[in-house]
Amino acid sequence: MHIHQYEKLWLGMSLLLIVGFIATITYGAVGVGVSMVDDSGGNVDPNALDEHPEFSDPGVQKVGENEYEVYVVARQFIFQPDPIVVPANSTVTFYVTSADVIHGFAVVGTNANTMVIPGEVAEITVEVNEPNEYGIVCHEYCGSGHHTMEGLLRVVP
Ligand code: CUA
Repeated sequence: MHIHQYEKLWLGMSLLLIVGFIATITYGAVGVGVSMVDDSGGNVDPNALDEHPEFSDPGVQKVGENEYEVYVVARQFIFQPDPIVVPANSTVTFYVTSADVIHGFAVVGTNANTMVIPGEVAEITVEVNEPNEYGIVCHEYCGSGHHTMEGLLRVVP
């Protein structure tokens, strides 16, 4: 009878391991504090960002309980706003577009990562947990200052 119980336990544990393994592959860096849960798009006129309701003044907007939207403009060779400050334990959706050439937007040490194409809005949603600071880097070559193009994501208590 006891052996039977242990077998059940082991079977359960190995199943849990398999499920955890698949989840890690599917969702990437589990447990690092920021994880990307969605990645989709939209369009915008890159020459009229000044007249855009959000991109004209990029920043963080509270849209619900523990829910934020962040409008980000990438341009040679900065991200606006910088730093991006959001509260811990919230769901944050980034809308990122470019004012000039193709850039990248990657939150270092997480799986939040997208290309930033002029005319297109990259939308990525992440869950942020613990207070922390993350570097943001451009990972697409965008000109002479590419290697200096970085920002900061601050997750505050
Ligand atoms: Cu912007 Cu590389």
